[in-house]
Amino acid sequence: MPRLFSPFQLKSVTLRNRIAVPPMCQYSAVDGVPNAWHLAHYTGLARGGAGLVIVEATGVSPEGRITPGCLGLWNDAQADALAPIAAAIAGTGAVPGIQIGHAGRKASANLPWEGDDHIAEDDARGWPTLAPSAIAFGGGLSKLPREMTLDDIKRVQADFVAAAERARDAGFKWLELHFAHGYLAQSFFSAYSNQRDDQYGGSFDNRARFLLETVAAVRAVWPAELPLTARMGVIEYDGHDEETLAESIELVKQMREQGLDLLNVSINFVIPTGVVPWGTPSFLAPIAQRVRNEAGIAVAVGWCVDGAEAAEAIVAQQQSDLVMIGRAHLANPHYPYQLAQELGVENPAWATLPAPYAHWLARYR
Ligand code: FNR
Repeated sequence: MPRLFSPFQLKSVTLRNRIAVPPMCQYSAVDGVPNAWHLAHYTGLARGGAGLVIVEATGVSPEGRITPGCLGLWNDAQADALAPIAAAIAGTGAVPGIQIGHAGRKASANLPWEGDDHIAEDDARGWPTLAPSAIAFGGGLSKLPREMTLDDIKRVQADFVAAAERARDAGFKWLELHFAHGYLAQSFFSAYSNQRDDQYGGSFDNRARFLLETVAAVRAVWPAELPLTARMGVIEYDGHDEETLAESIELVKQMREQGLDLLNVSINFVIPTGVVPWGTPSFLAPIAQRVRNEAGIAVAVGWCVDGAEAAEAIVAQQQSDLVMIGRAHLANPHYPYQLAQELGVENPAWATLPAPYAHWLARYR
């Protein structure tokens, strides 16, 4: 039995295998409320056999959305529409997860297929953005954010807590805090984007404070028996990788002490000029392994995991506990079935798909 298809337990939650669908924005919501597209999309992905399906980046507040089409979890209408999605994912045997976040200075962007840049200042669809310091990201995301006051910081942390409570009540069993990809939390930890001179900027402890306080506050309301996880970049690919990695691993250790159960290891994306080794298969897996070993925490990793053998190698070599497979799931929502076939799993259809599909695929081969 390939290790990719062995169960993984974290707290009271058991994933049926080590394949996870990472959060992938659909940019298809109105006022942050999911609709028929989201229900069909997530149900379809969950039917494909992954152990974990994480709903896309969901804003904890209106100004925390990346684009006007992003999901939100700051009101009951949004929570009420997310509950059937969590139930549908769970109904297939996958564990329903959700990523909550605040996009900080990268918020108020156009949809990717409409430019992926900031909405123009004179366009009523946009909104003012917040960040640790009044420094723009650059490139197409050049809008100048407002430096957050201490009250702003408290309010956003309270928004994370309220969103976590709504996610819990909506039936999600796995919570991922979006601390990655240059969004608000990641931008607090990076000196590129955080040049505050109060208790939230400057030293390691000060830059880490927003993230650590948020983990602790969410942990207080997220059930103790359910996994609390975060996605965070640990490397910028800017020529200072060893320092960034060492600092990040120290932060992960401290987040673990605040009750974090797993880190979904990713890329910082705080500056537009990082030289990410796109095209190198599984390039983050050795980095994830370092986080796993040095921070003593379970990890997930993805980005460019190219095929069945690559996914199996990552878990077999214990580089990561879980493998996140994104775009291959968009191409084929039943991708885990293909992985099971390629890895020689016995009865691959029954190992991955629901009975109304598995029976026929197993019977007439
Ligand atoms: C993403 N990604 C992403 N990441 C994240 O943390 N939150 C999100 O909401 C999104 N949204 C998103 C949308 C779409 C359409 C894509 C393709 C990607 C990144 C994603 O989770 C994953 O890390 C990448 O897709 C890399 O994995 P693959 O596709 O190489 O397996």
